[in-house]
Amino acid sequence: MTAYTWNDHTYDVVVIGAGGSGLRAALGCAQAGLKTACVTKVFPTRSHTVAAQGGISASLGNMGQDDWRWHMYDTVKGADWLGDQDAIEYMVRAAPAAVYELEHWGVPFSRTEEGKIYQRAFGGMTKNYGEASIQRTCAAADRTGHAMLHTLYGQSLKNAVDFFIEYFALDLIMEDGACRGFTAIKLDDGTMHRFRAQRVILATGGYGRAYFSATSAHTCTGDGGGMALRAGLPLQDMEFVQFHPTGIYGSGCLITEGARGEGGYLTNSKGERFMERYAPTVKDLASRDVVSRAMTMEIREGRGVGAETDHIHLHLDHLDPKILHARLPGISESAKIFAGVDVTKQPIPVLPTVHYNMGGIPTNYHGEVLTKRGDDPDAIVPGLMAVGEAACVSVHGANRLGSNSLIDLVVFGRAAGLRCGEKLEANANQKDLPKNAGDDHLARFDKFRSAKGGTPTAKLRAQMQKAMQEDCAVFRTGETLESGVRRMAEVVGGVSDISIQDRGLIWNTDLIETLEFDNLVVQAVATVNSALNRKESRGAHAREDYSDRDDVNWMKHTLAWVDDKGGVKIDYRPVHAYTMSSDVEYIKPKPRVY
Ligand code: FUM
Repeated sequence: MTAYTWNDHTYDVVVIGAGGSGLRAALGCAQAGLKTACVTKVFPTRSHTVAAQGGISASLGNMGQDDWRWHMYDTVKGADWLGDQDAIEYMVRAAPAAVYELEHWGVPFSRTEEGKIYQRAFGGMTKNYGEASIQRTCAAADRTGHAMLHTLYGQSLKNAVDFFIEYFALDLIMEDGACRGFTAIKLDDGTMHRFRAQRVILATGGYGRAYFSATSAHTCTGDGGGMALRAGLPLQDMEFVQFHPTGIYGSGCLITEGARGEGGYLTNSKGERFMERYAPTVKDLASRDVVSRAMTMEIREGRGVGAETDHIHLHLDHLDPKILHARLPGISESAKIFAGVDVTKQPIPVLPTVHYNMGGIPTNYHGEVLTKRGDDPDAIVPGLMAVGEAACVSVHGANRLGSNSLIDLVVFGRAAGLRCGEKLEANANQKDLPKNAGDDHLARFDKFRSAKGGTPTAKLRAQMQKAMQEDCAVFRTGETLESGVRRMAEVVGGVSDISIQDRGLIWNTDLIETLEFDNLVVQAVATVNSALNRKESRGAHAREDYSDRDDVNWMKHTLAWVDDKGGVKIDYRPVHAYTMSSDVEYIKPKPRVY
């Protein structure tokens, strides 16, 4: 194999990932006068934030009275009380300013008659602590993420962030428990790069592609989570995987919750609006875990639609076509392309589809990565930060509310930038990296590059995706999860027999997909093992053999470490049962009533 030569780079901060959180963090660091780079495996405006449709939550009160305290209550309740309330308070209080900042930077939000930012209803967003649905989700038609991403990229360029585009990050450089940088390959010429920085910010997104059917792009392979595990760090609350109620049947393509926010509704084979039975107050606008479970129950009980009675109908055909054209143009087009449906006349066939990972790299609300060290459950990992879906702050707890993701991205991206501005000195001297920094990364890289086994990566990946889809789904039991643990152990075992055909270094998609798969597989292992371990039902984790929430034994975050043989160690961190400000009361857990 080639002897590699390092291309070395030094920055104050390097952000890995150019989605909403990565760009917002990079922009904040650059604004703070820090020499900042953003390293991304796809062109920034192709990052998965581009696919976010329905909107970004903030209690602007443009469509009637609203209050950040109501938003806080909804988020805590939606999280099924597993969220850290200090972080939730931070997010909802910062949300309105974060949205106005986006507006001032140029995000083309849809408008009300008076020219204010248009807000639509979304699941679980209510007024007056659960009284009725509220319009809190700020929208740019149904292309909100697209609009945000383009604006943030423009602002990052304006603020002199250096971009390293189409570089794939390999691993973190750790020294004495601190992060000193990371390594990456440039995809179009195969050169190897070593980045040294005072802070590395992981903004690498979720790992939805561990599942067979996901609204996530094929690039959502949780690369930061894989790197964190290989650096000996734990991932948190990985058992909580969100299924979005309305993925298009067959393709998994997202149909925004905003469709129900604009008045759309679900029906079963009897034409019944079944959500009235499951969530009588908010109906189709219950939180996603509730709607996904209800749809699954309807299908299981034989009331699914279609020849196989295996999906559900989403109706928009009663809505004014002008509204559909103005507010939901993107999904109208997706429904036509992916389901052959004219939404003005026919219902869309939909099915709960993997959409979001509540779990991830544990952080505090400044974005600093945490681990458990001795008795300290909140020990900071020096030099390393994480934001966005890669992170677990944890504002979403056991279940995220729709439109709380985009606000999480910009609020905590901004928080990370502020923290770097506060803690770092621009252009400070950084000691040399250890002499052999990155050698072990190259050894791993070469192991895969020269792999001559008998199993193509695509086969192992499909095996993983099927196991996760079947055994770690909307509903789980000890039996399915044990089967999932067994099947994932077989997948991990299969990695030693992996086969790579392309030995080159330039645009070697065979190799890069294998590295992505290697990142996914450890997170799938963490997910299914954490799910088997948690013997209760909470948020998106619905165990049929433990159907109640158990606050006495399980009001705690799971931490999972996974080694390269697939061995799992589990421990816990306490949920932050306190708020950020002394005058804001902790919201005590309540029984689940919808
Ligand atoms: O349904 C949607 O538009 C998705 C939004 C979200 O996940 O926050």
